[in-house]
Amino acid sequence: MKKRILTGDRPTGKLHLGHFVGSIANRVKLQNTYEEYVLIADVQALTTNFDHPEKLAGDLREIAMDNLACGLDPQVATICVQSKMPEISELTTYFSMFTTVSSLRRNPTIKSEIEQLGMKDNIMYGFLGYPISQAADITIFKAHLVPVGEDQMPIIEATREIVRRFNRLYKKVLIEPEGLVGKIGRLVGTDGQAKMSKSLGNVIYLSDSEKAVEQKVSQMFTDPQKIRLSDKGHPDRCPVYLYYLAFYADKAEAHQIKKDCLSGKRGCVECKKDLGAVLNKFLNPLREKRRKFEKKLSLVDDILISGTKKARTITKQTIEEVREAMKINYFK
Ligand code: TRP
Repeated sequence: MKKRILTGDRPTGKLHLGHFVGSIANRVKLQNTYEEYVLIADVQALTTNFDHPEKLAGDLREIAMDNLACGLDPQVATICVQSKMPEISELTTYFSMFTTVSSLRRNPTIKSEIEQLGMKDNIMYGFLGYPISQAADITIFKAHLVPVGEDQMPIIEATREIVRRFNRLYKKVLIEPEGLVGKIGRLVGTDGQAKMSKSLGNVIYLSDSEKAVEQKVSQMFTDPQKIRLSDKGHPDRCPVYLYYLAFYADKAEAHQIKKDCLSGKRGCVECKKDLGAVLNKFLNPLREKRRKFEKKLSLVDDILISGTKKARTITKQTIEEVREAMKINYFK
């Protein structure tokens, strides 16, 4: 029997290159080796969209198309919708009974998102608790492996703690999952900031047009100490070079670029022009796949409906085992 993967995305806008590098590349690569479920976490998206929930319907389909465009094969992997599997909410409630507020406040993912989103003292209960809901997403599928971006690793750690606690308190029915971060883990923003993020406006979307990619790349930050072409550069600190490493198939050529930058033979303008071309070469096949679905959106809905139906057989099964383990399955 194959081991399981569960991973997911919040439908809060389209996915970008950072998502690809962190998680999507792995989910596409591993879809044949594992029994794979990709969850569109619309309830989790409500933590920051409760005041405009009408946005979810569109974003949900965008996220599905982003995954399909990247090569996720709906015949192989299962894409499913969180809110349509209410067993996940039930499990979230049970987990919340033995998870302390202080552990949530200490969670590094939560801490940095609170800061980044400027929440200060205005932290909603649901937002603070989203690691619990994510633990329910993962464990209800009894997933062994969870491909995620580096920023999400503390949530996987919290999930492991919850599983150990549950299994000790009641009965060993849940599986302690491992996180899996992509080769590059985290992609810096086009401005060189630590992370590509919609709220920072330093993002290249998987669905951006060729022109938009060229334009965003032309405005990218490079090594601030390289001002003239002949200045010796520091590629390891240059966002443009970091993108090369992530998206350049030809390692020898990337190595040459590094040498020429280090020695002052190559300028930033040339690098940016080349990077625009590299990214567009990578994105062109994605654009093509995406068009097929954009032309017929009902295809996307069909995939989501049948995926959710299949996934729900698992969520129903696990919640039965959970109720049994907790001795709250009063009537059969
Ligand atoms: N929090 C994840 C993110 O923002 C999305 C997510 C929701 C997820 N549920 C999940 C990731 C379960 C992995 C497993 O990227």
